[in-house]
Amino acid sequence: MNIYHTVSGLRSDIRARRLNGESIGFVPTMGNLHEGHLQLVRQAKAQCDVVVVSIFVNPLQFGLNEDWEKYPRTFQDDAKKLETEGCDFLFHPDENEIYPNGMADQTRVVVPTMTDILCGASRPGHFEGVTTVVSKLLHIVQPDTAIFGIKDYQQLAVIRRMVEDLCIPVDIIGAPIARDFDGLALSSRNGYLGEDERPRVKVLYEVLCWCRDQIENGERDFTTLEIQADKTLENSGFRTDYVSIRNSKTLEPAAHDDNQLTILGAMFTKGARLIDNISLTLGEVNALTQQAEAKK
Ligand code: PAF
Repeated sequence: MNIYHTVSGLRSDIRARRLNGESIGFVPTMGNLHEGHLQLVRQAKAQCDVVVVSIFVNPLQFGLNEDWEKYPRTFQDDAKKLETEGCDFLFHPDENEIYPNGMADQTRVVVPTMTDILCGASRPGHFEGVTTVVSKLLHIVQPDTAIFGIKDYQQLAVIRRMVEDLCIPVDIIGAPIARDFDGLALSSRNGYLGEDERPRVKVLYEVLCWCRDQIENGERDFTTLEIQADKTLENSGFRTDYVSIRNSKTLEPAAHDDNQLTILGAMFTKGARLIDNISLTLGEVNALTQQAEAKK
């Protein structure tokens, strides 16, 4: 595995492989790699000839009071894991390499509307930082395929929208959420959890599953489900940021006849803000309901 700290070094080696007819798969990360990230790398390897992984803790996507400084940086460990997985090129730039004109003067990429809701409402500017750095990384690497975790569902939807709107020639793939033994979605921020709260945080996944089961059993009063889910989180000792049932593509509040739904949740623990989501397809259930209503 080759390690690069500069755009020019990485680019010239990728160009050589592309000219050789090889396809390029890309997994952007902020490091502190866990099994979830490694699954993305395996997927890239299964689909592409050359796998590029980036590790860059992007300051532009962190708010002033957020965890940019304490975000775990474990480069040596990460590099070993990537080597074992057969990653070809590891890109590890510093801040000057990505923002040579300084962050304040950096040209920004903004996806409107869908970035102001859910996580965007409690983390203003976050998605602008994500889309700006991801568009830079996509221009640097110019991959055929880029893989992102579905755990950051809103991020994935926003990136898909950016790629569509800006006609960036890349296939964006969403990879399934990797979970711990009790259902907790794997995240670098799980390391912030106190020992006392770790056994209890599975409640986030549990309330999302509960909402999904209710909907699959025919419940369509989404607001009541969201309120009940919120209460369950609060009763377990966590502050709810949101639990929200949305149209999977637009992220607008789900309409009763939407077929593709995603239930998204975020909650605050003492040391972390955790997010999770579950998607469901209601095609057959809705078709049967509509047929029954048409017969009335
Ligand atoms: O999901 C992440 O780790 C980051 O938001 C990303 C996509 C690498 C951009 O910094």
